[in-house]
Amino acid sequence: MDRRRIPATIPVPRTIQEGQLTYNPNWKLCFFRKPAALTVFLDLRCTLTLQYTYIELLGSMGSIIGTEPTDSAMQEYLQSLPRMNMEPLWTRMSAMVPPSPNPACQPHLWSYSDCHPFLSQAGNLVTEQMAERRVLMLVNPSMKAPHTTDTLYGGLQWVNPGEVAPAHRHIAYAARFIIEGNGFTAVEGKKMPLARGDVVVTPTWHWHDHGNESDDPVVWLDVLNLPLFTYLPVNFAENYEKDRYPSVEDPSADWRHPWQKTQTILDETKEPHAIFHYRNSRGLPLSTTIGVQAERVGPSSSSKPSQDVSSFLYHCYSGKGHSVITPPNGEQKSIYWHGRDTFAVPAWSKVQHFNESSTEPAYLVGFHDGPFLDNLGLRASMAAAE
Ligand SMILES: [Fe+2]
Repeated sequence: MDRRRIPATIPVPRTIQEGQLTYNPNWKLCFFRKPAALTVFLDLRCTLTLQYTYIELLGSMGSIIGTEPTDSAMQEYLQSLPRMNMEPLWTRMSAMVPPSPNPACQPHLWSYSDCHPFLSQAGNLVTEQMAERRVLMLVNPSMKAPHTTDTLYGGLQWVNPGEVAPAHRHIAYAARFIIEGNGFTAVEGKKMPLARGDVVVTPTWHWHDHGNESDDPVVWLDVLNLPLFTYLPVNFAENYEKDRYPSVEDPSADWRHPWQKTQTILDETKEPHAIFHYRNSRGLPLSTTIGVQAERVGPSSSSKPSQDVSSFLYHCYSGKGHSVITPPNGEQKSIYWHGRDTFAVPAWSKVQHFNESSTEPAYLVGFHDGPFLDNLGLRASMAAAE
């Protein structure tokens, strides 16, 4: 048994449990070696004692604690693995089992005033035949489409007056938030009007079509669970045999959630910050994958700091403020938003919303992957540490 004191200059993982092997990239490489009779006790500042059995640390550590294989032997070994279609886990342990959720997404704002000219241009350039797809995808700067966050897709859709998108159905689930104008969506034969602030959903494999019977363009935010299908390639679509699926007017259909009803509930609270969770008539989240919540931040008020394993795509219904977002990588960012802006929040970010108006409340609508995580039993949630 060997017992050494680790110099203070050598970094030690922040989260580590006795008996647990944790790979620290600063140590270059850690791996189990059997039946080596090497046990190392790390004693740092008399507060943390860690026991590693069968560990050999290569590189600078290796010279401290004992026998090490030669670099050339290791290189030769590593080079022999690809032809066997194998890779060493120990060199990638940190990425596969990180000490906290590790989203690729970064915080980002899509200002509506900046996006609007491009949407308007698409309204002129893209024909009605392509109207169903006249969408500008919101692509996270650190990811590729369809990623607005790691698990959510968001897009801004523009529908010209008189246009109707052909009826279809697909496995992907969609939630829609109306930004401006008046349109309609029909789901399984129930035609619902759409006005600013309304949420309407098109569940998995439900026939739906939508359009604009007004004299002005209608713009909405589409949020779908498309990123999930990069791992589960089961999404596909089917077109209905006619342009329109037979429908009747039904403004109170379960798939429509008028804004006024939501705002009334939020305004009833006396708290500086209130959250309303959208639910269907059975009291459940709107889908098994995407959830929706609306938040009210009172004048000159803020939300409490929060941290959630869900990623969020927020849309500001009205108001002016900013959100301080600290993702797990520690790169804090303040997002300044106005009414109709949309912004992405990575999973496991510490988040706090601030209303910069001293007279008007701010309303935010957040789309998230909470139901997906809950249904798979993957959620870990807690109040942010002060
Ligand atoms: Fe659709």
